[in-house]
This record gives sequence, structure tokens and C-alpha cells, in this order.
Amino acid sequence: MSDSKSRRDFLSKISFVIMGGIPGLFFSNGCSITGLTTYHHRTIDGEILLPLSQHPELNLKEGGLQIDVENSSVSIVVVRLPENNFIALSPICSHLGCTVRKEGSFFRCPCHGSTYSLNGNVVRGPAEQALRMYRTEFRNNTVVVYLQ
Ligand code: FES
Repeated sequence: MSDSKSRRDFLSKISFVIMGGIPGLFFSNGCSITGLTTYHHRTIDGEILLPLSQHPELNLKEGGLQIDVENSSVSIVVVRLPENNFIALSPICSHLGCTVRKEGSFFRCPCHGSTYSLNGNVVRGPAEQALRMYRTEFRNNTVVVYLQ
């Protein structure tokens, strides 16, 4: 192994450890069942902070990402809607609990075909209730998701 490769490996491992040790920081874990890039986040006082500069998916029209909340089983999808509006939803289908997948401008459930708009409303059953929504705020170029 060359010196530059081992140095690169060492720096990569150190970066991973440092980022994981600072509350609120995150790392990406690739794509998930929702079809979105997944980030692991810690909460700070019940908030998840998503700076646009560090989450390029949220700079795109109808772009989205998945957040897996560390030390919990909670996953949240966050999508950019028009006019700097952002929505945070549970990806758990309200019919029988499968995980929905983002397909273009909709979320579709692979189990029985329920379809939701990007704001979580049902556009096709059998689901009858919208996806669970989390409150969001956009401030200082950062999307804030409130878990409560
Ligand atoms: S669990 Fe999603 S449609 Fe049935």
C-alpha cells in the first residue's frame, strides 16, 4: 500500500470519527427504500438542522432526502416544495405501515398502491389518511425539522 493511499484512508477514518462525535452532525449512508439519499442525524433540543449548503438535494425543485434519527427508529423524509417551502413527513404508509417510495412528484406505497402527493395527502387509496407531518421552519438557509 502506498503512503498516499494509507494517508488518505487514515484521514477518511479520522473524518468519520470526528463527524460522528459532534452532536447534530451527520453522515450520508447512500440511498434507502424511499429512493432518497439517507442522512443520519442527531437531534438538538428536539430539532434537526439541515443547512442547504450541506444537503444539496434540498436545493432542487421537488428534491428530497431521508433523515434517520440516531438512537431511535424514526425516519423522516424532507422535500422541497415551491417558494422555499419544505415539508417533513413520515415515510410510513397510513394504510398498513409499509414504507413509501418517492417517485417523481408522488410517494407510492409498494404494498397496495396507495399514492400520496409530495405534501403527504392521499391521491389514491386504499390509504385514507395523509402521511404524518412534522413541523418545519426555514431560517438562515437551514431547514429545521421539529420532532415534537
Ligand atoms: S401498506 Fe401502503 S397501501 Fe397498504
